[in-house]
Amino acid sequence: MKIKRGIPLIDQHDKNGFYGGKFGGNYVAETAIQPIKDLSNLFEKLRRDKKFLKLKDHYFKNYLGGETPFFKLENLTNYLGGAQIWCKDVSAIHGQAHKGYHATVNALICKAAGKKYIVGDTGAGMFGKNLAMAARELKLKCKIFMGTKDIKRQAPNVKFMKDAGAEIIPVDTGSATLVDAVSECMRYYVSNCDTTHLAVGSAIGANVFLKICAYSTAQISKELKTQVIEEFGEIPKMKLVNVIGGGSSAIGFWSEFIDYPKKHVELIGVEAKYCAPLTTNAKLAILHGAAQYCLTDKNGQIKETHSISAGLDYPGVSPLHCFLKDTGRARYCSASDEQALAAFKLVTKLEPSVKPSLEPAHCLHEVIRLAPKLNQDEIIIYNNCGHAYKDQKIIKDRIGYFPS
Ligand SMILES: Cc1ncc(COP(=O)(O)O)c(C=O)c1O
Repeated sequence: MKIKRGIPLIDQHDKNGFYGGKFGGNYVAETAIQPIKDLSNLFEKLRRDKKFLKLKDHYFKNYLGGETPFFKLENLTNYLGGAQIWCKDVSAIHGQAHKGYHATVNALICKAAGKKYIVGDTGAGMFGKNLAMAARELKLKCKIFMGTKDIKRQAPNVKFMKDAGAEIIPVDTGSATLVDAVSECMRYYVSNCDTTHLAVGSAIGANVFLKICAYSTAQISKELKTQVIEEFGEIPKMKLVNVIGGGSSAIGFWSEFIDYPKKHVELIGVEAKYCAPLTTNAKLAILHGAAQYCLTDKNGQIKETHSISAGLDYPGVSPLHCFLKDTGRARYCSASDEQALAAFKLVTKLEPSVKPSLEPAHCLHEVIRLAPKLNQDEIIIYNNCGHAYKDQKIIKDRIGYFPS
């Protein structure tokens, strides 16, 4: 299995939508086949359409707020005494997480398809909130599917979604978390695909859905590449560390750097310890329309997962990450709830200007572990892909305070 150089990662699938001949595909209900084909044709046309690209850039700049900051974490670097630690602060975007990029692109695609209704899934509420906001901006009617467990633990985002005019559909099946919300949302779409656009919250699902998502979040690495060259005069040897739930933020953070040799730009993905298909050599299974590594029980059924972080509580992972793992281009590891909380505590104490949500706090654990082992001229960049406001209560309950 090999990655082809010079071809965007999202386009490296075969005619049936498989990456590396085995990840992804289109395992969809018969009634959804034609609507998904139509969406695929529309997306391929739009991503090459100058007018659409101008519109997307306009919304990224004037609605999402343009380029997000890139800066060195001086105090953390000095404290750990090894590699330089840099932050790409994607949480500074309007909507406070990378989900703003694919929520906006999906809303623009929905408009271009002439549909008035948009539906999406959410776990941490970041995609739900961003989709609700984008729908309001573009005058679309929006439904968000969310597990009842997540509705309770991510209350600030639930309020945002409601205030933005979205209807929240509580999902009480299974573990009442993200995996169930995605299933219910996809079911709803299959029965309503004539009028409704489906926006999937991560780089998962049948081929076109993961392509739309990864295409949109690529904005992060496009900006980062320019910022790194401005700062260092070249692309230096560096490590790009990102948390992995479904995998949308990591794919967006890495996509411009896939062609660099891994000794030059190392890609490190950090899963939550008990939702870690890539770290635990999980088996291949089909989930939400695509083949991927997935946590399953001895009967092959999807296993229940646990994470303190609602955004990471997913038993599968993007087929694109399965491909990056099996080709050896990216390395994956995991962090526990406690390790993420300890990383949050240390980073917010030393660097009051960053407030990582629980998701990027997981990858900060790996940054903190790695940095002291490296030389001072080595560079680690992590993606601060979400803001902690949504986790205030959980953090306060677990560590006794929420930093001001
Ligand atoms: C802030 C944040 N980061 C990371 C994730 C994990 O998802 P993904 O791996 O698709 O970026 C989520 C999911 O909701 C999130 O809200």
